Amino acid sequence: MSGVDIAREAAAKEALKYVRSGYVIGVGTGSTAMVFLRELYKLIINGDVNNVVLVPTSTETEIEVVRLGLANLLRYPWQVDHVDVAVDGADEVDRRKNLIKGGGAALTREKIIDYWAREFVVIVDESKVFDSIPSKHPIPIEVIPFAWTIVKARLEELGGTAELRFGGGKRGPVVTDNGNYIIDYMPRAGVNVEDLERVIREVPGVVEVGVFSGKRVSRVIIGRLDGSTVTMD
Ligand code: A5P
Repeated sequence: MSGVDIAREAAAKEALKYVRSGYVIGVGTGSTAMVFLRELYKLIINGDVNNVVLVPTSTETEIEVVRLGLANLLRYPWQVDHVDVAVDGADEVDRRKNLIKGGGAALTREKIIDYWAREFVVIVDESKVFDSIPSKHPIPIEVIPFAWTIVKARLEELGGTAELRFGGGKRGPVVTDNGNYIIDYMPRAGVNVEDLERVIREVPGVVEVGVFSGKRVSRVIIGRLDGSTVTMD
């Protein structure tokens, strides 16, 4: 296992401490969240955790739940009246627990479920912690296809660069689970991401912004390359 794999596994296992029998669990998206799901699967199969149901934040997560043989535990938002805990990854985290999310284009469903949860637990490896964000990863912004050029122009007016996301084994733009496009926006250095999120959300055509406020995050579990973890509460 690589150092990053060890770090992810350590964070995922630590997050299991926040899971209880009977819980409605929001399951995040991305490689780190998938490690958590597989660790949770082991607890379920061994009978260490009972009567849980799983609310997925993306098609990727749904498919993995089904692949693991847990389709009977899948629930959608309209089938539950709350989420006890959501466990999700992030692309970047700052010291105030603000996050950049949406590297996998799942930011909208993630924000819906993660913010709804009574507890929102983030799991990352130590390479994702920065003094200020965005640092390396641009801010993903989900936009209605009809509006993408208008939103892109507005972001460029705010300063920095904005690019329609392409790739991922499909010709043309990436299409999200909600049928929308993603614009990756790298603002000028030193911006306040919380202020920026508010400004961008007001642009017509924007569905969601991949800035998650630290105020909505219960804790960030940081896995280290040596297999230890540190938690920011
Ligand atoms: C999905 O859209 C993202 O928000 C992911 O949660 C984020 O990109 C982290 O993914 P990894 O754990 O694969 O780095």
